[in-house]
Amino acid sequence: MICLVLTIFANIFQTGWTGPNERTFIAVKPDGVQRRLVGEIIRRFEKKGYKLVGLKLLQASEDLLREHYWELRGKPFFSGLIRYMSSGPVVAMVWQGLDVVKMSRKMLGETNPRDSPPGTIRGDYGVEVGRNVVHGSDSVASAQREIALWFRLNELHCWEDSSSHWLYA
Ligand code: RTP
Ligand code: MG
Repeated sequence: MICLVLTIFANIFQTGWTGPNERTFIAVKPDGVQRRLVGEIIRRFEKKGYKLVGLKLLQASEDLLREHYWELRGKPFFSGLIRYMSSGPVVAMVWQGLDVVKMSRKMLGETNPRDSPPGTIRGDYGVEVGRNVVHGSDSVASAQREIALWFRLNELHCWEDSSSHWLYA
C-alpha cells in the first residue's frame, strides 16, 4: 500500500524515491537487443542486488525519444541518435535500490565505450559512442522524469523482496 502511494506520488510529482527505494530508468538500446545482450544486462543488475519493478519491450516513437533526449536537441548527433534509438525494439526497465542511479552509471561505463573500462557494460560490449548498448538516467531527477515518460503507473510493480534482509542491514 505504501509502495503504491509512493509510486503514484513519484509519477505525478516526479519525486519521492530515496534510500533503498531510489529508482532509475535503464534501457537496452536497439543494438543491445539485436546483439542478444538483454539477458546479460538484466543479469548484472539482478546479481548486484537491485530490484526490478518495471520491464517492457517496445519500439519507441520518435516523439517519445525526442522528449527523452530533449536536453540534447541542439547537438549535431541528435537526429542520428533519434534514428538509432527508434530503429528497433528497446527493453525499458525500472530498477530500485540504494544509490541505484549513481551505481548504474558506474555499471554502464562512460558514454563512449572507448573510455569505458573492462568490467562495465559499455566497456565489455561496445566499441563506438553511436552504438553504446544501454541507457541509464544520469541523476535522480532525470530518473523520475524518464520513469514517468516511459511507464504508466500500472506498469510499475510493488512486490515484497524476500532478499532485502540479506541486502540491507
Ligand atoms: P544515455 O543518456 O544514453 O545513457 O547516455 P549518456 O548519459 O552516457 O550520454 P548523453 O550525453 O546523455 O548522450 C546520449 C546518447 O547520445 C549518443 N551520443 N552520441 N556522436 C556523439 O558524439 C554522441 N554523443 C552522445 C550516445 O548514444 C549517448 O548514449
Ligand atoms: Mg544521458
